[in-house]
Amino acid sequence: MPSFFARPCSRRVFLWITAAGCGLLVVFLAASNACAASAPIVLTGADRRAATSLDGEWASIVDPYFSGLFSFHHEEKKNGWFVNYKAKPGDPFPTEYDYSKAPKLKVPGDWNTQRESLMFYEGPIWYEKDFSYEPKPHTHIFLHVGAANYRSWFWVNGQKVCEHEGGFTSFNCDITQAVHSGSNFVVAAVDNTRREDNVPTVQTDWWNYGGLTRDLSLIEVPETFIDQYDLHLSRTEDGVIEGWVHVTGAEPGAKAEVQIPDLKASTSADVGADGRAALHFNVKGLERWSPETPRLYKVVIRSGQDSIDELMGFRTVEVRGTEILLNGKPIFLRGVCIHAEAPYRTGRAYSDKDAETLLGWVKELGANFARLAHYPHAETMLRNADRMGVLVWSENPVYWALQFDNPKVLAKAEQQLDEEINTSRNHAAIVLWSMANETPNTPARTQFIGTLASRARSLDPTRLITAALLVRAQGSTKIVDDPLGNALDVIGTNEYIGWYEGHPEKADTTQWQIAYQKPLIMSEFGGDAKAGLHGKEDERWTEEYQANIYRHQLPMLRKIAQLRGMSPWILMDFRSPNRPLAGIQDEFNRKGLISDQGEKKQAFFILQKAYKEKSVGNPE
Ligand code: GCU
Repeated sequence: MPSFFARPCSRRVFLWITAAGCGLLVVFLAASNACAASAPIVLTGADRRAATSLDGEWASIVDPYFSGLFSFHHEEKKNGWFVNYKAKPGDPFPTEYDYSKAPKLKVPGDWNTQRESLMFYEGPIWYEKDFSYEPKPHTHIFLHVGAANYRSWFWVNGQKVCEHEGGFTSFNCDITQAVHSGSNFVVAAVDNTRREDNVPTVQTDWWNYGGLTRDLSLIEVPETFIDQYDLHLSRTEDGVIEGWVHVTGAEPGAKAEVQIPDLKASTSADVGADGRAALHFNVKGLERWSPETPRLYKVVIRSGQDSIDELMGFRTVEVRGTEILLNGKPIFLRGVCIHAEAPYRTGRAYSDKDAETLLGWVKELGANFARLAHYPHAETMLRNADRMGVLVWSENPVYWALQFDNPKVLAKAEQQLDEEINTSRNHAAIVLWSMANETPNTPARTQFIGTLASRARSLDPTRLITAALLVRAQGSTKIVDDPLGNALDVIGTNEYIGWYEGHPEKADTTQWQIAYQKPLIMSEFGGDAKAGLHGKEDERWTEEYQANIYRHQLPMLRKIAQLRGMSPWILMDFRSPNRPLAGIQDEFNRKGLISDQGEKKQAFFILQKAYKEKSVGNPE
């Protein structure tokens, strides 16, 4: 008797059953995919929580046309490469991807410096990682993403868990519904394509490093958990710490407690209907945080089953007229700008080692301040700035000419600002929130950034709001009167006298006219030099030329009465697609005082001398 399959009709029945089965599988996957995704949340102090790391090697598939997610009609696929389908013999359809055979990429890390073929790549790349997990009952499980540049989508076991836009802030996706006991897999799609309506937009002077650029982990918290908190020293009442703790899922009246064992201080407060418990308590014998004494305290924050062991310093910062006061005393910010470019290996910086090297050079320079440009840097950088005593200017990536009249773009900038402030608000090192860099002086721009500045003030009234403004010139006078200055506590201005503007000596005859009775920070100045390239001081690109710029800048800056800080551009050479000059730049911006390989240029020692002698700025 011919076998079941030999008979034509039974083959047809078999094909129908298989197709129906697959159809059902697709529907199930689509249904589960659709229902789980929720907006990612901010978890303050996520890096202080116990976590299961997902760092290491991930399978990766480069997908320039994003065919893993979008059909050729550009509809989002129901069964894209996120389902991690394993092809089976006899499948009635081809499977054109297989993570088990795919090359690896390290996480954290940008993809550009990991594979030569990806150095200039801009587009989507898929990541996949298997992990085993035993979820505990009555808990939430979050996928913590330190950063993913620029747009990213995440699935766990084929179920969409979240998506995010913005390359420099951390976010947490609730994966509780998607994780199961035993073996699991997570798939991420990351796309660093630049678009006009992105924040930042298409033009920047830094490399568009793509990928999962900071740590990834699984964080498990009780059903009722602490998602955000703020603790700071009162500006008005001596010896008083105030702030709040927000507890998700807590009943009104639930308790939130804070303890500072070294100060034998503790307090508790009731959680209100909005999930917040307001705190206000006295402490005795507190040693205030400062660059000279970066004293950190263990702080235990507890509510219900949940607790976080924080490590933080306490200080106040404010403005009085044209003075910046740290702990009530005038301070001059002797600083330098830093990009998150990794020393020596290059690529996006993320590790403690990267931070220790960069901030170590800041300390060696005799500086007490770093402008972290032009986007929020990693928590590792901020933790080390707290520990090493480096004051920080942290910046939202509103850089150059965004679409300032596009409300969608404003919403993106607001979202990134919220994530930056809510994630990093407890770092004593951060004293300035910068809203923008070198934006064109138009009414739409002033409105846009004015909105961001008031948002930042309402989110965090304990720090100073600033931005790096462009300055206009009239003859040999530099005029700082950009209307955006009205929205700021501290004015930042960028100038390149001696590099983009004439010769270094021009600084000797330059006057400054500041329209605001506010503290001023010269937030950028400097010029390019190739480390080891020597010549006469009027030969561009040589160390001598760069040194000469600094020699003429410092006396000019000393003459600006309300100058309260400076951060020359820049500590270390960094990669930029705008810098092709062969043999000198080779796709690096060479304005560093130190090369990307750690070679200190002559200008480093000129600035170091001025900082060590404290010959710049008002006497402290
Ligand atoms: C600008 C800008 C920087 C840039 C620098 C330069 O002022 O803010 O991002 O790298 O100038 O031209 O080197």
